Amino acid sequence: MLKTHHCGELRRQHAGEAVTLAGWVNRIRAQGGVIFLDLRDRSGVVQITADVARAPQAHADAEKVGREYVIQVVGVVRARPEGMTNPNMPTGEVEIEATGIKILNPAKTPPFELGGDSRVDEAIRLHYRYLDLRRPRMQQNILLRGKVTKFIRDYLYDRGFVEIETPILFKTTPEGARDYLVPSRVHPGKFYALPQSPQQLKQLLMVAGYERYFQIARCFRDEDQRGDRQPEFTQLDMEMSFVEREDVMNLIEGLMTELVEKVSDRELVTKPFPRLSYQEAMARYGSDKPDVRYGLEIKDISDIAGKSAFKVFVENVEAGNPVRAICVPGCGGYTRKQLDDLTELAKSAGGKGLAWMALEAGEQGQVKSPIGKFFSVDQLVAIVDRMEAKPGDLILISADKASVVAAVLDAARREFASRLGLVDPKKIGFCWIIDFPLFDWNADEKRWDPSHHLFTSPMPDDIPLLDSEPGKVRGQQYDLACNGYEVAGGSIRIHDRSLQEKIFGLIGLDVEDAKERFGHMLEAFEYGTPPHGGIAPGIDRLTMLLAGEPNIREVIAFPKSQQAADLMAGAPSAVEPIQLDELHILVNSNDSHSTE
Ligand code: AMO
Ligand code: AMP
Repeated sequence: MLKTHHCGELRRQHAGEAVTLAGWVNRIRAQGGVIFLDLRDRSGVVQITADVARAPQAHADAEKVGREYVIQVVGVVRARPEGMTNPNMPTGEVEIEATGIKILNPAKTPPFELGGDSRVDEAIRLHYRYLDLRRPRMQQNILLRGKVTKFIRDYLYDRGFVEIETPILFKTTPEGARDYLVPSRVHPGKFYALPQSPQQLKQLLMVAGYERYFQIARCFRDEDQRGDRQPEFTQLDMEMSFVEREDVMNLIEGLMTELVEKVSDRELVTKPFPRLSYQEAMARYGSDKPDVRYGLEIKDISDIAGKSAFKVFVENVEAGNPVRAICVPGCGGYTRKQLDDLTELAKSAGGKGLAWMALEAGEQGQVKSPIGKFFSVDQLVAIVDRMEAKPGDLILISADKASVVAAVLDAARREFASRLGLVDPKKIGFCWIIDFPLFDWNADEKRWDPSHHLFTSPMPDDIPLLDSEPGKVRGQQYDLACNGYEVAGGSIRIHDRSLQEKIFGLIGLDVEDAKERFGHMLEAFEYGTPPHGGIAPGIDRLTMLLAGEPNIREVIAFPKSQQAADLMAGAPSAVEPIQLDELHILVNSNDSHSTE
């Protein structure tokens, strides 16, 4: 070993010990005849002193080092003199008096500051990710991520789960995104698909009798990037046999509770996790992944608004659309401009506008609103009562198709929660969403799409509706939301061939297509398939929330950029013509130029 101790472990009780340390030079200062170096390794930072009078050679060598040089230091631990200790550093009570300093490798000056939390352009951080990962914040995140997966592994091993790897080169396993395809050299014109999740394989492991499976699984989805999405990401993928919805939910609730309480420094605010039906979540929060750490709940005022003289509201109610609102405390004094700007918020969420009613501060609480003249006094009072609005509050109203109203008021809730400082990033608020519709109507393709995935079982009571009203069928699906993000999705699965075939038919897969793509699943269902179900929490999103980071790139060692590129290595990249030949691929040269 090139070192006897780690920098961050040295304390007052080590005083007098001879040590050899190795690491990176974090900071250099010279004072009188002494050079002070902060030496850093993964464990932390310790101060090195090189005194020209006491160790002239070490001092001469210290003069040659620069920031981020990799050096080895031989020296003795000294307790720092009274008044020289640094309470902000865990090693602040000691320093190492160097007797020898050896440069193991010099370093160019880093392109950005590695200490502190300075703002650096993300493209530069991703280009030099190996330097970015040296920053304390990134280091904490990456180490936290490791603790999260270790905790999960231990928790599940203790409960009889087996960890099983499943292939990456496989066949399409749709989860609603595009597949990444891998051309086959030995089968010209044929492709593997990278799994969007191990969904089919874990179900087949249940057929195979493993009963309790898990995997920290890499998943691949070619979809538009966002702060909470990456083209490749990691799930805790799990599946259990002979279970019902409650069993899976209870197991995960226990796991998440302990994870937050034991592994993170966050506070869990919703215990036990509230459960909302999909309908209730959409009505109260406008979202199926609500942030339940704050109120600002949505209320329906269609009955009152429909009787007003405001055309937009009346027409919507006549068309069967809702008029819904939220009450924002203390924002009734907004200026006209601030209020009119809220229209933009509605538009960016797909709405046409956002009507407002401001209650003046003071006893009277007069309603001020550009649409006030279209309402009788009684109607205004009824709205204020329904919204439980107080003088000084602001009511924001949206009328449109239910999905648009939900999107607009969801956006308004999030925006005002942030403006009013209602979100405490130290708090973690989980909730379960259940009773999802099994299908979503795809108006473009004129067919039903699975709202979760193809293999989710309908609620037993709703099976008769599959023929008559598929839109009313609820799935045995459960999603876990946390702080406004979807962190896990799962379901009880279909384990019966004829029911699975029926679902394939409803989503527009004809018998031949279904056989070609999922014949292996249908076949397996005929060989003794146990009732089974599972779930998959997203490790990246969970770690992001536990770390209090704003996007998942901050908790992934080598993430892709927003354009799905690796900016460090330069992937994706062009390949040699001979490789393409071997893969039987002809690239459309117009396309290849435009993406270079
Ligand atoms: P689902 O598609 O809901 O379910 O995914 C489960 C969880 O994975 C995370 N996730 C992502 N994280 C980062 N980037 C992405 N692009 C991304 N996509 C999804 C989310 C999400 O909740 N096979 C089913 C699970 C099951 O039914 O057991 C599945 O994959 O946190
Ligand atoms: P207008 O009559 O179009 O000028 O709209 C009057 C007010 O109603 C403005 O504040 C608009 O933002 C708002 N508004 C317009 N359409 C809607 C809608 N669909 N839902 C809620 N408010 C709306």
